[in-house]
Amino acid sequence: MTTGSTLRITPLTKAIGAEVGGIDLREPLPDEAFDALQQALLRHQVLFLRDQPLSDAQHLDFARRFGPLTIHPTSRAKGTGAHVEFIEDDEQSPPKATRWHSDLTWLPVPPKIGILSARLLPETGGDTMWSSLTAAYRALSLPMRERVEGLIALHDAGEQFFRGAELAAGKEIADVLRATVSQTTEHPLVVRHPDTGEKVLYFSAATITKIVGLHPAESRMWLDFFWSLVDRAEHCVRWRWRVDDLAIWDERCTLHVALPDHYPARRVMRRCTVDPEIGPRA
Ligand code: SIN
Repeated sequence: MTTGSTLRITPLTKAIGAEVGGIDLREPLPDEAFDALQQALLRHQVLFLRDQPLSDAQHLDFARRFGPLTIHPTSRAKGTGAHVEFIEDDEQSPPKATRWHSDLTWLPVPPKIGILSARLLPETGGDTMWSSLTAAYRALSLPMRERVEGLIALHDAGEQFFRGAELAAGKEIADVLRATVSQTTEHPLVVRHPDTGEKVLYFSAATITKIVGLHPAESRMWLDFFWSLVDRAEHCVRWRWRVDDLAIWDERCTLHVALPDHYPARRVMRRCTVDPEIGPRA
């Protein structure tokens, strides 16, 4: 059985990412081993576990250990209330999560944890990358940090989300989403991680449309600069998937991007996210 002391945590870079061995999530996971995993997640922000051939139910049961599961707005629009989502790319439905983002940041209370399992992979390509937003904050000089604190960003689901929903779930569902979801939210650009207390540059390139109160050109200048911090190789980790790999990441301090370099080949991932008690706070 997995225990805290059988877990092997191997960091992949200094800023972000660790591979976890000595764990089989099909077996009961004692609290002490789960706590060790949570601590590793707080330290490394994204964890990768090889060889976890979980059923949908086992995937969700494990995720529930972190908190209540998110009902994705698309599942809500479909009326299924399902917690599990399948991200399926093929020729007709090209990869969608192809810009740096954290999931659903345009909601007032976005998810806190994401858990992704590789179900069917292309022969080549289809990696996912994560970038650390605490590293992005730490890369700012002190005067720059002072300038950024207090700024507010407008997060917008954007047409890309609705087009993606249309490809994945059809026009009818996309129209329900357009009519029912709250599509924009304001969040501070610098937030404190609720568990570690660390400061995070809370930037989601795919969904932030402007910085509130700035002229459009000023806003663009800041957003381009933040993007350059997220893109820095030393802030990122890239995962080359094998079937049955599981990734667990902290949505509150990372961005991720699914590389579309396998298109038009088929790729299927199973995902769920976990909700926090409160939304992002400065
Ligand atoms: C996601 O954006 O959560 C999916 C990432 C992926 O498919 O690799």
